[in-house]
Amino acid sequence: MTNDYIYEIHGGRPLQGTIKVSGAKNSAVALIPASVLANSKVTIDGLPDISDVQTLRRLLEEVGIETSFVDGTMEIDPSGIVEMPLPNGDVKKMRASYYMMGAMLGRFGRAVIGLPGGCPLGPRPIDQHIKGFEALGAKVTNEHGAIYLRADELVGAKIYLDVVSVGATINIMLAAVRAKGQTIIENAAKEPEIIDVATLLTNMGAKIKGAGTNVIRIDGVDELHGTRHSIIPDRIEAGTYMIMAAAIGKGVTIDNVIPLHVEALTAKLREAGVVIEEGEEQIFIPERTEPLAPLDVKTLVYPGFPTDLQQPLTVLLTQADGTSVVTDTIYSARFKQVDELRRMGMKGRVEGNAAVITGPVELEGAAVRATDLRAGAALVMAGLLAKGKTHIYDVYHIERGYSDLIEKLNEIGADIRRVPKKEEIVTNE
Ligand code: EPU
Repeated sequence: MTNDYIYEIHGGRPLQGTIKVSGAKNSAVALIPASVLANSKVTIDGLPDISDVQTLRRLLEEVGIETSFVDGTMEIDPSGIVEMPLPNGDVKKMRASYYMMGAMLGRFGRAVIGLPGGCPLGPRPIDQHIKGFEALGAKVTNEHGAIYLRADELVGAKIYLDVVSVGATINIMLAAVRAKGQTIIENAAKEPEIIDVATLLTNMGAKIKGAGTNVIRIDGVDELHGTRHSIIPDRIEAGTYMIMAAAIGKGVTIDNVIPLHVEALTAKLREAGVVIEEGEEQIFIPERTEPLAPLDVKTLVYPGFPTDLQQPLTVLLTQADGTSVVTDTIYSARFKQVDELRRMGMKGRVEGNAAVITGPVELEGAAVRATDLRAGAALVMAGLLAKGKTHIYDVYHIERGYSDLIEKLNEIGADIRRVPKKEEIVTNE
């Protein structure tokens, strides 16, 4: 995680052309730990080139797994895996390292994993993960900032999630594929990334039914084997570019997208007056000719409007003609971008778990700080829209999750440079 660079954006340049979406970050960060469960080589194609993927790769190597990563293809050979505690270091750098809990528990019946870091979006408990592991027979304790999981034997169980959680659903799945007997996860999350992980596990020999619905049934097996898997496209990256295209596009094609996965966004953009043409794996957004209408948006679990797109959307709404309200029901404090955007001229405020934004305004370049991944994407977008020069600090957040962001956007007309940081900015953080 280097913090020596900033992004310099010269705004006001329209986007035009085709932008290709990479493999899904939130699948990648689960698929890589899932491969730990195999007893022979797993190959995953289409992985995004982001720092979260590199961090996970280092974690696998720490436990003796051989890996290679060339052109988005990672080969993972877990046959030499050693049972090792992972209390510190890389494990703390990213929240999704919590998938090593389920994976190591499934593989060894035991695990020690440092409590995860990740984006500061307000409280992000993992009680549902732990409840699931305990139901499968693990004893779970928190000792000095690390979670210790120990099971004599994992036994299938019926688990009702009190909160619909992507992470808990996947983590329980990872452990349950090696448990004795049947596990039923009720009130499971339904995100496409869950189906992707279930597909990998199934191709490794697991027996999983119902992934993508709210009841998942898993029959445990004794052994899982290697396989080859192609990751799904990143619906959040696709959505980010759709929002940018709606704001400042002169005809942008988003390539490698599954339109169904971004349907909630498509519906909201259309409501605002954006024209969207859907192909099989492409979405075309022509130049806007009508003013944007304001929106009332509420984030929900999939297939509702994703919390991860709420932050970029707030930037688009600075261009809408009237007052918009964006409510986040998943992460109530995920509005750190608003303070930064106000430096750029946004007329907006946070009220409880909502941002209230009035437009249209002309944004102006400023020095701003990426406080988390999607806030970072929002600031890049604001920089593209703004008059003059924008400097974005703490871009390592952005590089955790967007593959080749600068190259991709510059290719379609943006002017973004990654330049060495000369001085620290002072913000009211
Ligand atoms: N929750 C609990 N207890 C738990 C787990 C979750 O109360 O044990 C709550 C959370 O606090 C939150 C809600 O349940 O209010 C949903 O959390 P979820 O577990 O679904 O989130 P996650 O698995 O930790 C994933 C994505 C996030 C994305 C959320 C919501 C990954 C690695 N991360 O997080 O992605 O915002 O689902 O869709 O898959 C991002 O990509 O920028 C990002 C933060």
